[in-house]
Amino acid sequence: MREYFKQKHQEELSDRETVGASLVSASAPGKLMLFGEHAVVYGYPCIATAVDQRIRAVAQNIPQPRLEIEAPDVGVTNYEKGLSEIGLDTNIFKGVRFVETAIKNFRELYPGDSGLLIQTSSEFSSEFGFGSSSAVTVAVLKAISGLNNVFLTNEDLFRLSYQTVGEVQGVGSGFDLAAAIWGGTINFIAGGKEITPLAVGELSLVVGYTGIKADTPSLIRQVAELYRRDQKWTEGIFGSIASITKEARTSLTKGDWERTGELMNLNQELLVALGVNTKELSRLISAARDAGAWGAKLSGAGGGDCMIALADSEYKKNVEEAIEKVGGKVLRVTSNAEGARIE
Ligand code: PMV
Repeated sequence: MREYFKQKHQEELSDRETVGASLVSASAPGKLMLFGEHAVVYGYPCIATAVDQRIRAVAQNIPQPRLEIEAPDVGVTNYEKGLSEIGLDTNIFKGVRFVETAIKNFRELYPGDSGLLIQTSSEFSSEFGFGSSSAVTVAVLKAISGLNNVFLTNEDLFRLSYQTVGEVQGVGSGFDLAAAIWGGTINFIAGGKEITPLAVGELSLVVGYTGIKADTPSLIRQVAELYRRDQKWTEGIFGSIASITKEARTSLTKGDWERTGELMNLNQELLVALGVNTKELSRLISAARDAGAWGAKLSGAGGGDCMIALADSEYKKNVEEAIEKVGGKVLRVTSNAEGARIE
């Protein structure tokens, strides 16, 4: 991969005039999984949408030969490290793990002597499961590539981000990175084998947060354990999830919300079978359905975080109130947000 990026960079430098900016700001959106969670880890497709809540990263050259990070939203202030020490620590402080690893990976491909200050800020809490780690990784890589006059295509940005998240987290399909980079609504296959933007209109979604932070890697391991114990049965569930996701691709692009809602309900039953549902999620999902939603399901790894419901605008307020009545927190977001961008 290194050779690929090196050659590309050299070609670009000869093609373009360097601008020499000393500060670049970039942002990337959070995401919601619509269909296909867990099955996507095993090579099946999923559908995700980017939401209009973003993470920003500002990258700046500084005279001191060190990396400085300010990320007050996750409790990081005055973090600093010598340039030669970036990424060497085997136990990088949690709040800066993704940012520092992203910088290490970028600098391995594009070394430089300049000191670097990174400041990040988020429009959403990292508790919601909107993919804050992925969005911050993408935003930081977008900002530092801009700062260094390196043009990364979406595919390049995905590769570098996927490598980073893989090193920090070890597991995951990368769908959240793709949503943060491409934006909109995408059909995705693990590792970025396929990333297809879908022509889907604005979704009339209601998002309910359970108040419980889910631990995605441990839920992925839990499903892996199920797979190990009974591969045939688990493959059967994944196959059914894949059929639903395939049909949802059509119903979403046709704007057939009623069928999309039914498919969400079916997908939810299969997630229950995988053992990743919780009683809190169930409570919010049932309340949304009873209040007139076309369909509702958990979104993401399960174990907590958020559920989503699709509802006609006429019922949206009812659904929101019903979710709040049973203890959920309604998060107002719109779908199909723009992907990573320099600001
Ligand atoms: O927990 P989230 O919202 O990041 O979603 C995880 C979705 C999984 O399919 C379980 C894992 C993955 O990386 O695709």
